[in-house]
Amino acid sequence: MDVQEAIRSRRSIGKVKPDPVDRALIEEILEAGIWAPNHAHTEPWRFWVMTGEGRGLLGRGYAEVALAEAVDQLSDEEAEKLRDANMKKAFRAPAVIAVAVSPSEKAVVPEIEEYAAAHAAVHNMLLTAHALGLGAIWRTGAPTYHPKMREAFGLAGKEELVGFIYLGYPEPLPLKAVRKPFAEKTIWVTE
Ligand SMILES: Cc1cc2nc3c(=O)[nH]c(=O)nc-3n(C[C@H](O)[C@H](O)[C@H](O)COP(=O)(O)O)c2cc1C
Repeated sequence: MDVQEAIRSRRSIGKVKPDPVDRALIEEILEAGIWAPNHAHTEPWRFWVMTGEGRGLLGRGYAEVALAEAVDQLSDEEAEKLRDANMKKAFRAPAVIAVAVSPSEKAVVPEIEEYAAAHAAVHNMLLTAHALGLGAIWRTGAPTYHPKMREAFGLAGKEELVGFIYLGYPEPLPLKAVRKPFAEKTIWVTE
């Protein structure tokens, strides 16, 4: 698959089969991530690959966030239900890669650019997953940035999660995509 085809045909795929993903494919995806552009060679990213019961790392994060944010006083049974429902979210795909930005301590690069590099890494990974015939989706949501989620992943200092890449073999579903023409977003400056 050439780059143009990969860019145009990649879609976010949330529904995947439970079959495990080969480690070699996941390694190719990680390799693509680390070749993203990054200012001053800071390589400001960290990855966690979660498979099998390992997905409980993310599940516990979701559960801790949900419990911390519960407005009502919960009975033990209600708390257990909430915990289980949130834990399940991490099991929507056979493999999940958490990606964090780890901004350089040297402050040579503005933090916004460290995020840009981490986001570019995620997109490299999504394109590679697609080219390898896998389905992938970049998921975030408010729990991603919650202190309890940071705690679950042991983030330090300025580190932040930038998303979770859910990965698996795609279910054969029709995929829709809409984009406005680039002309609506573009000004050509020639003089
Ligand atoms: C930073 C970021 C966060 C996202 N978070 C979610 C999410 O939490 N849940 C979700 O279903 N899709 C999420 N998406 C995927 C978008 O919904 C998706 O890219 C968009 O609908 C366009 O579809 P396409 O990727 O198939 O072109 C996210 C995308 C980005 C860039």
